[in-house]
Amino acid sequence: MTRLLLRGRVLSFLDEPQSLDDTSSYAYFEDGEVEIADGRVVSIGPFDGAQDAGTRIIDHRPHLIMAGFIDPHIHFPQMQVIGSYAAALLEWLNTYTFVEEQKFGDARHCARIASRFFDELIRHGTTTAAAYCSVHAQSVDAFFTEAAKRDMLVLGGKVMMDRNAPPGLLDTAQAGYDDSKRLIDTWHGKGRARYAITPRFAITSSPAQLEAAAALAAEFPDCHIQTHVSENLAEIEYARELYPDAPDYMGIYERYGLLGPRTLLGHCIHLTHREVEVVAGTRSVAVFCPTSNLFIGSGLFDYDRLHARGARIAVATDVGGGSSYSLLRTLDEGYKVLQLRGQRLNPLRSFYHATLGNARALGLEGSIGALVPGAAADLVVLDARATPQMALRHETISALAQELFLLQTCGDDRAVVETYVAGRPMKSALPQSGT
Ligand code: GUN
Ligand code: ZN
Repeated sequence: MTRLLLRGRVLSFLDEPQSLDDTSSYAYFEDGEVEIADGRVVSIGPFDGAQDAGTRIIDHRPHLIMAGFIDPHIHFPQMQVIGSYAAALLEWLNTYTFVEEQKFGDARHCARIASRFFDELIRHGTTTAAAYCSVHAQSVDAFFTEAAKRDMLVLGGKVMMDRNAPPGLLDTAQAGYDDSKRLIDTWHGKGRARYAITPRFAITSSPAQLEAAAALAAEFPDCHIQTHVSENLAEIEYARELYPDAPDYMGIYERYGLLGPRTLLGHCIHLTHREVEVVAGTRSVAVFCPTSNLFIGSGLFDYDRLHARGARIAVATDVGGGSSYSLLRTLDEGYKVLQLRGQRLNPLRSFYHATLGNARALGLEGSIGALVPGAAADLVVLDARATPQMALRHETISALAQELFLLQTCGDDRAVVETYVAGRPMKSALPQSGT
């Protein structure tokens, strides 16, 4: 049995922090250790000098060691869409995104981008992602093949879309069902892969396709479902025109039986009172994507309103509408969105979301998101002095929460010293640049 011991400042969340001084919500060891065997966490605690002769020790002091970041909403075929100049969502989709995603009809392109995609996740400290692939089944094969090479726990699925997009991006209700089912049979539960049934959104799925997605969800109840809802006002209006019998946008997915504890609902910005109640009541997850919401100009997520109703909330990048792979950048922009709403997202709560909170949102608590015995040794090592200005600012810091806030406000991939997946250091093994 290979044993590894990481020494450093160890932080792991136990529960959702209720305030900035809620010390019961996390475990923290100033001179701590994470003991790892066979890719899993054995224990965490204060550093204990007495070790077995066979144990390899890696000293990460003075850096912070915590569970790897989890990104519960990202688009793998949109790496080359980031930074596309558009007035709003539908223009952004039609002008750039739907053009770019057609390239995934080429299997070599799928393989190249998949490799680069996982490099970026690792570089930014993300060890698990729930991704939208393109409409092409081969994009899903490329995605899971590349994740398997790195032994990463990922969720993903082929987008089902049978209307309102270029012909090269359309399936049909039947083909979307058949392809998704074949991909579930091939990938779901294979190693660390998990399939997410992925009707892109109501605008690009006909009623027959939403029915097909619901049929898949009934056949494969342990698969996740991921879609978009209520991101942009013109999108909402269009969706409502397409489904005139639904009470509201959320009501479309509700009517087709697509809501539930495994459903990830990207954006959830402009919700009615009824829609908030439906999200909360079905235990679906509202996924807050701040860099995307700001970049595309979609709107300001109402965290407190959803939270007050008991809705489950996750925080994600939404690359390539989102402008960074970094959960640190994402938390920073999330903080600013809530500032504009007169709401507070304290740094403990932020880092809880990026780790244990997102693991809970995915129903994966115990496997990822916290350094508990038996969990995967998916970890990130963070340096709050990563740049000269961060180092200077760090001189004035005296508390853990302040350090986390500095990391989220000024940090990016440069603050990620190492990323471990199943106990293996992955970031230091990355190629420095690639083509
Ligand atoms: N709505 C439907 N598809 C997409 C997408 O790819 N990105 C975003 N941000 N919203 C969407
Ligand atoms: Zn999205």
